[in-house]
Amino acid sequence: MTQTASRTEQVPALFDEVASTYDLMVALNPGYQRQLQASARVLVEQLRETAPSRPVRPVRVVDLGCGSGASTRALETELRRAGLPHELVGVDGSAGMLEQARRKRWAGDVRFVQADAERLAEGRWDVEGLPAAGEVDAVFAAYLVRNVSRRDELLAQLRTWLRPGGALVLHEYSVRDSRRARAVWTAVTWGVVVPLGLLTAPRSPIYRYLWRSVVDFDGASRLRGRMVGAGYADVRSRSFTGWQRGVLHTFVGRAPA
Ligand SMILES: C[S@@+](CC[C@H](N)C(=O)[O-])C[C@H]1O[C@@H](n2cnc3c(N)ncnc32)[C@H](O)[C@@H]1O
Repeated sequence: MTQTASRTEQVPALFDEVASTYDLMVALNPGYQRQLQASARVLVEQLRETAPSRPVRPVRVVDLGCGSGASTRALETELRRAGLPHELVGVDGSAGMLEQARRKRWAGDVRFVQADAERLAEGRWDVEGLPAAGEVDAVFAAYLVRNVSRRDELLAQLRTWLRPGGALVLHEYSVRDSRRARAVWTAVTWGVVVPLGLLTAPRSPIYRYLWRSVVDFDGASRLRGRMVGAGYADVRSRSFTGWQRGVLHTFVGRAPA
C-alpha cells in the first residue's frame, strides 16, 4: 500500500471526529453554500440538456462524499428551483457525518447511504441502497476526489454508474496550476481555516490535513486529463472568481451517449 493510500483511507474516520462541529465551520465560511449551489446549477443545466422529452421517472442524482448534507442541500435547492422531480442519494464513508445529514429536514425523496469511495473505486458496489449501474443521471462530488487515492479507478467506476449521457460534476480545490493560487490557499488556510478549526475541533488534525491535501492534489489540467482518460466526453472546468480564482473549480464531464 502506498503512503498516500494509507493516509486517504483514514479520512472518513477523521471526519467522524469533527462531524458534530462541521456545520459550524461551514457557517463560518460565508461563500461555502453559495459556491456549492453554483456547481449544483451546473449539474442541473446538464440534466436539462440531456433530459428525455417524456421522463418516465424522477431524475436520480448521487451526492458522493455528501458529508453532513451541505452539498445535498445545494442540490436539493437547485433541483427544486428548476422544477425537476428528483431522487437524491447522499453517500459518504463517515457514519458521524451521515448522522448529521440524516438529522436535517429533507423535503422530497432524499436518502443517505454509507459507502467508502475507495471500495467503489475497486468496483465493490455491493452496498444496500445504492442505485444500480447505468441508472444514475448525475453524480456530484464536492471536496471528495482529492481525498481518494484511487482517483482514476473511481472516475472510471462512476462513468459506468451513470446512464449514457449522464453527468459527473466535481466541485474541488485545485491550486497546482497557479503559483498565485498556491500562495493564496496557504495564506487563507493558515491565517483563517486552521485557527477557526482550533476553536471548533481543537484536537483534530483535519484542517492541517486539508491544507496539505490541496497542495498535494492534481492541477485542474491533470484532473481534466484523468476525466478524459476515464472515458468522459465534453470535459471542461471553470474556476470561481474573487480570492478563489484558480483555487476552487467546477469540473464537468459526461458519460458517452
Ligand atoms: C470536506 S467534506 C465535504 C462534504 C460535503 N460534500 C460538503 O460539500 O459539505 C468531505 C467528505 O468526504 C467524505 N470522504 C472522504 N473520503 C471518503 C471515502 N473514501 N469514501 C467516502 N467518503 C469519503 C468525508 O467523510 C467527508 O464527509
